Amino acid sequence: MDKERLIIFDTTLRDGEQSPGAAMTKEEKLRVAKALEKLKVDVIEAGFATSSPGDFAAVKSIAETIKDCGVCSLARTMPGDIERAAEALVGAVAPRIHTFIATSPIHMDYKLQMTPEQVFEQAVGAVNIARNLVDDVEFSLEDGSRTEFDFMCRIVEAVIDAGASTINIPDTVGYGSPDEYGEMIGRVIKNVPNSDKAIFSVHCHNDLGLAVANSLSAVLHGARQVECTVNGLGERAGNASLEEIVMAIRTRPDIYPVEVGVDSRQIVPTSRLVSTVTGFPVQPNKAVVGANAFAHESGIHQDGVLKYRETYEIMRAEDVGWNTNRIVLGKLSGRAAFSARLEDLGISFDNKADLNRAFTRFKELADKKREIFDEDLQALVSDIQLGESAEDVSLVSMDVASRTGRAPHAELTLRSKGNDHTVASEGSGPVDAVFRAIEKLADSGAELLLYSVNAITTGTDSQGEVTVRLEKGGRIVNGQGADTDILVASAKAYIHALNLLSNPDRVHPQLGGI
Ligand code: KIV
Ligand code: ZN
Repeated sequence: MDKERLIIFDTTLRDGEQSPGAAMTKEEKLRVAKALEKLKVDVIEAGFATSSPGDFAAVKSIAETIKDCGVCSLARTMPGDIERAAEALVGAVAPRIHTFIATSPIHMDYKLQMTPEQVFEQAVGAVNIARNLVDDVEFSLEDGSRTEFDFMCRIVEAVIDAGASTINIPDTVGYGSPDEYGEMIGRVIKNVPNSDKAIFSVHCHNDLGLAVANSLSAVLHGARQVECTVNGLGERAGNASLEEIVMAIRTRPDIYPVEVGVDSRQIVPTSRLVSTVTGFPVQPNKAVVGANAFAHESGIHQDGVLKYRETYEIMRAEDVGWNTNRIVLGKLSGRAAFSARLEDLGISFDNKADLNRAFTRFKELADKKREIFDEDLQALVSDIQLGESAEDVSLVSMDVASRTGRAPHAELTLRSKGNDHTVASEGSGPVDAVFRAIEKLADSGAELLLYSVNAITTGTDSQGEVTVRLEKGGRIVNGQGADTDILVASAKAYIHALNLLSNPDRVHPQLGGI
């Protein structure tokens, strides 16, 4: 029997980007969008066009580039937001406007300070405006899982009449429980007279660790679109994780009456890219994409797997893209091989100078590291793209001394607005000395929330990828840096975070009201 299609709506570039500090540049978003196209998701929510000129440009360039997926922009129910979304989506093959307003008593009373009637009017009005601009309109009832049932059905019926073809009922605060939430989706579908004219969608947050379970329960009750993110990135505890949704459906066809079009072999490469670009490491025990997801430690398990793999493995590592960690290039590889590999990875540069810089960096790296993997290239390109984004501070050189019995000492030369400054400091360790030296010049007043180092590939000659999370005045940013010398990577990550802090803020969809 033919199964119905479950639409995979990826919101890594919108809700995922709302994770504290996960903001991406236009170039980074485009790289992730190309990876999502290769992964064969159905719809890419590229951003929230009205939130900033940068996000508008990102949505626009994704809309103009992506051919094989729908491209969507979020918009509040304000006419200006919707028009801006439509403008950004002009070049898309399959544009979608996703407009939303909160419908729960708590959000309407306290956040919006609007009556249910005003919310109703605004919702229908927004869908009407959007439908005059594009054919494909999605409407979301924010905080749907805490919305009064009859009110929800009334709005859903009216927005479908106004032309919304996708109705999304989010569990915005991650409050739902699988049976209750799934059953509620089923009841809405049953109660709304015109529900057959729309696809019902779910968008679950992971505050209680139930986002995937809630989404799958909704699928069992008739939802045919799941909104999810790579690595489960997203607001607070994140969204339902794309890889878990897809693999649950693929692994249990006996339970789920749907099929997905995703190319699962692209899951691990996409997960790695998103982790590199956002600076959010993937926890080792994360399902499907964590480093330990297919590692068997205990002797009994290893013995079982060697005798018959299915004793302990329900999925095949290669089916989700593990073992793609291949040597792709080396010291003797030339410019043609380098450019061809970048093209395969969906990486392009706006100008030849950047390609030349990337090639020079590749040659430098190949001198230090015999085998260059795709992950090394991704990190190297991120570095070039960060460097090109008009940063006001960059690292010129550094000298760090660390000896037993003496306080570690760091001396750095930093370039700021074209001038070189040399700064030095001691610290409790070499990383502390490096950060203190940078602060002598920056004097940012930012608080360091997180410092983490991850090896990009295996072996002691691997590049270290450093994430530095800084907070200032309520704003959180993640800086990243990669190098075979983890002190250099640390300095780059700290400087990157400082540069992000000096960029202007964006409007946050859930805080922006209407
Ligand atoms: O969590 C949420 O409710 C959202 C909406 C904007 C869809 O992200
Ligand atoms: Zn959300």
